[in-house]
Amino acid sequence: MNLRLSVGAVGVCLIFSGAAIAALPGEGPRLGTDRITQDDVEFGGMTLFELRQQGLRMFSTPFNKQDGYGDGPINPADTTTPGGRPTLQNNGTFLRVNGLDGQTCLECHSIVSNASVPAKLGIGGVGGSVTNAMAGPTHIDVDDEDQVGFASYDGRFINPPFLFGSGGVELLGKEMTIELQALKAQAEANPGVDVALITKGVDFGVIRFVGGALDTSDVMGVDDDLVVRPFGRKGEFPTVRAFDVGAMAFHFGMQSTEAVGVDVDDDGDGVVNEIMTGELSALVIFNTNLERPFKNSLSNKAKKGRALFRTIGCADCHIPILKTNSTILTYSFPEIPADPAANVYYDVDLSEAPTNFNETPNGGLKVNLFADLKRHDLGLALAETAGGALDQVFTTARLWGVADTAPYMHDGRALTIGEAIDMHAGEALNARNNFAALPNNQKAQLLTFLLSLRTPNNPAAGLVE
Ligand code: HEC
Ligand code: HEC
Repeated sequence: MNLRLSVGAVGVCLIFSGAAIAALPGEGPRLGTDRITQDDVEFGGMTLFELRQQGLRMFSTPFNKQDGYGDGPINPADTTTPGGRPTLQNNGTFLRVNGLDGQTCLECHSIVSNASVPAKLGIGGVGGSVTNAMAGPTHIDVDDEDQVGFASYDGRFINPPFLFGSGGVELLGKEMTIELQALKAQAEANPGVDVALITKGVDFGVIRFVGGALDTSDVMGVDDDLVVRPFGRKGEFPTVRAFDVGAMAFHFGMQSTEAVGVDVDDDGDGVVNEIMTGELSALVIFNTNLERPFKNSLSNKAKKGRALFRTIGCADCHIPILKTNSTILTYSFPEIPADPAANVYYDVDLSEAPTNFNETPNGGLKVNLFADLKRHDLGLALAETAGGALDQVFTTARLWGVADTAPYMHDGRALTIGEAIDMHAGEALNARNNFAALPNNQKAQLLTFLLSLRTPNNPAAGLVE
């Protein structure tokens, strides 16, 4: 208890000395005083390019304590949630395990291609395993004291995916949510009747209204609220905005006003309004307007591989193309997950630059993501040991860009695509076994096809040279 009190006292000291230091060169907040507001975003007449520039700034500014970096004094009642976490060896700045692990978003999202040597770096890419986030552990048995044959760990260990094309993914998710909500309303209007939850060809099971309540026991691969959540490897976040608010808090202890309130110093670090609504809006607009991945023109060998990808069952989950009804991605604040059409403040046409998604004849977009935005049980061997109900369940990895994004699987345990395929079990066991049974020339065809799925050459084109 004494320790905790003294740590709190050190925190207070830092804040007092910080105010005096802030006036010295290089010691003030990196975000400066010229900060973008939600009014600027909505009514300021800013172009998409200018908004993306502001978002890039949020993504790549190395926050310091004057900006609000870090949590405040330890919260003895809850030492694992952002806001009151301890720092490692009482260093006063970072914890690394369980967040306070970087200074910018860019640090972890910075590899555009690992296919070349040296790797090609750029904005919004994947991270190597050194940048894995380690969420929520309280026990890491590094030297296998428990003698179980491995280092047990009770948190989540997750490898950073890229953000390319995420606007198209978010639009798909929102349209699917709207359709699922309509199917739910249909079930409520027809008590006792089974309603199939199929949207864009993806089957989320069946819902029915019985005894005055919704029966969701046959709903699969989506939460019972029927909100599609494409983001996060377990599919926990419906929008990039929802994800980014948490990312700011987890990685940097940067609290958003929309999470804690305006002029509220929720973490007690002496700084209020660490991330404001307009800043998050710019960040989200930037994240969702990075270039999308693309496909090389296919050799004959790759075309054969594409056919095999379907026949052996990979495409059951990794659906090559999902189509949107509209080309317009809308942005909402505040967001209502079950009602993506509410509170829209801005929109972009994703068929135009910089995303340039191809259009369908029906006025929508082709999103070549190779996924179904659905969760699947991939078997015990891949399970995380966080102890939650979702331990061995992951949202289908999107395979666009897969040629460039090693390491693979949620924690980067597969160093090659072949290893990743081999690690599929559970619902994907048949497809995995089908692949394993192919003769080598056909395995080569399938891998050649996957190696044609590339990340964009210049994802933040125009913003940086
Ligand atoms: C320490 C490394 C690290 C830092 C710093 C970091 N990220 Fe991430 N990011 C990750 C990991 C790991 C995941 C996968 C998380 C999950 O599955 O829940 C991820 C996932 C994401 C996703 C979801 C992608 C998807 O398709 O599911 C978004 C969006 C994102 N990060 C944005 C950001 C933003 C914005 C910042 C800065 C505020 C940021 N990240 C900082 C490691 C990092
Ligand atoms: C039942 C659904 C399902 C089927 C069938 C399936 N996959 Fe997957 N696949 C997933 C999920 C879920 C993940 C993410 C696993 C994780 O995050 O650990 C994944 C991950 C991958 C990855 C790693 C991608 C990355 O970026 O980490 C590759 C490569 C892959 N699958 C290829 C295939 C191939 C090839 C087949 C056919 C032999 C196939 N998958 C069949 C669900 C499936």
